[in-house]
Amino acid sequence: MEYSVKSGNAEKQRTACVVVGVYDKRRLSAAAERVDSASDGMLSALMRRGDMDGKLGQWLLLHNVPGTLADRVLLVGCGRERELADVQYAKVTGNAIRSLESTGANEAVSYLTELGVKSRDTYWRVRQAVVTSQNAVYRFDRLKSNPENTRPPLKRLVLGVHGRKNLHDGERAVRDGTALANGISATKDLANLPANICTPSYLAEQARELAKKNAHLKVEVLDEKDLKSQGMGAFLAVSRGTREPAKLIVLEYSGGGDKRPVVLVGKGVTFDSGGISLKPAAAMDEMKYDMSGAATVLGTLRTVSQLELPVNVVGLMPATENLPGGNATKPGDVVTSLSGQTIEILNTDAEGRLILCDALTYAQRFRPKVVIDIATLTGAVIVALGNQATGLMSNHSSLAHDLLNAGRYTGDRAWELPLWEEYQEQLKSNFADMANIGGRDAGAITAASFLARFTKKYRWAHLDIAGSAWNSGKKKGATGRPVPLLVQYILDQVEA
Ligand code: BES
Ligand code: MN
Ligand code: ZN
Repeated sequence: MEYSVKSGNAEKQRTACVVVGVYDKRRLSAAAERVDSASDGMLSALMRRGDMDGKLGQWLLLHNVPGTLADRVLLVGCGRERELADVQYAKVTGNAIRSLESTGANEAVSYLTELGVKSRDTYWRVRQAVVTSQNAVYRFDRLKSNPENTRPPLKRLVLGVHGRKNLHDGERAVRDGTALANGISATKDLANLPANICTPSYLAEQARELAKKNAHLKVEVLDEKDLKSQGMGAFLAVSRGTREPAKLIVLEYSGGGDKRPVVLVGKGVTFDSGGISLKPAAAMDEMKYDMSGAATVLGTLRTVSQLELPVNVVGLMPATENLPGGNATKPGDVVTSLSGQTIEILNTDAEGRLILCDALTYAQRFRPKVVIDIATLTGAVIVALGNQATGLMSNHSSLAHDLLNAGRYTGDRAWELPLWEEYQEQLKSNFADMANIGGRDAGAITAASFLARFTKKYRWAHLDIAGSAWNSGKKKGATGRPVPLLVQYILDQVEA
């Protein structure tokens, strides 16, 4: 979809549909007021009759409203005016797009971006509108021979801003929002692809394609021979069972001169069967999403490079399948990681930390400003936080603070869990420096505690996205999170 901004009056728009907000109870927004007066009180009359009272979730489509130049006017319920904050605004915007999609309109001018949202400015409202709209129109139907949606798609959305003085902020918001939405969609596409298509080699190919499009991007792919000569015994322990060759994908974006880079490390398990510690069959298909961390890194770098931000970002994506096989790692096996520390693999299903620990050691060579890993690491984080929040654990409080803030600004929220020394106790092994599992209690934290043993030399944060990266059930599909959080974190670095 194409986005643009415009300042002007609702009743004067020559378009397929004008979208205006109505508050609970029966209070017209400024744009709705104008349509109302132009039409001699048509909206007020309609509300008096009880067709719409402005509750969140309501909408009403009107045709040929007198006094206006648009083919249609869409009224969208916004809930109580005083309660309109980030979450409600996202709902209002999403509802508007879904109702527009059920009409024949292929373009619209929306005045919802002029609504007052608690402590948010024009830039934020327009950028969020672009991202939310793009999320609402996203479909993954490339593997269906007859895509279900046959209606003419919404092609253009014009977003209203108050007066000419806000046009500049609005345009900046459209640019940033479009780039962010592209990154989110790219992440969703990769994560939604099944594991027979999205293999480690496929991810490497996608990284190469992206690098071709931007002069500031450089890609390097280490194969198993390279991993072996580096000494990545933990990573290679995971790839032993599969015939798909493992890859360590290194994507470097250099737009920031000699600044120290932000290093993003994304878990790229393209399918996690559990290995010899095999998972139960129910919902095992969802383990195709176990590369969502790597997909997030690719999506974030897509946005950063599209915006040509003056920063340096390195993306590290260890990619492999985790399968059982005649050559697979067995419970009790002891391996030596790149750091030199030895690991007793008590459960082959705790594989994410094994590939990440070697990538995190490898990250040192980039002299990072900070290192952030992103991983669908534990079922335990879903038990703790559900799919609302990403689990955040860090060895540096101001980094944690910055990430939490970036999450709040974008509505892609994280929540911090403790990473106290006492948890290390649970990782003790009788036969190696550590075990790869820490028992039932505090599973998300002991996984992070394992990683913490490999990240002592730099500022580090860990994002456990097992809950936030995809939806299960009827709405099964990738969410594109936490691309918004990470892009915002990087944008904030540019400003600081
Ligand atoms: N990829 C899974 C984590 C996961 C589980 C993500 C469910 C989304 C939904 C990870 O590799 C894993 O299997 N973790 C184990 C760790 C355990 C063996 C210590 C888990 O969470 O059960
Ligand atoms: Mn696993
Ligand atoms: Zn996994």
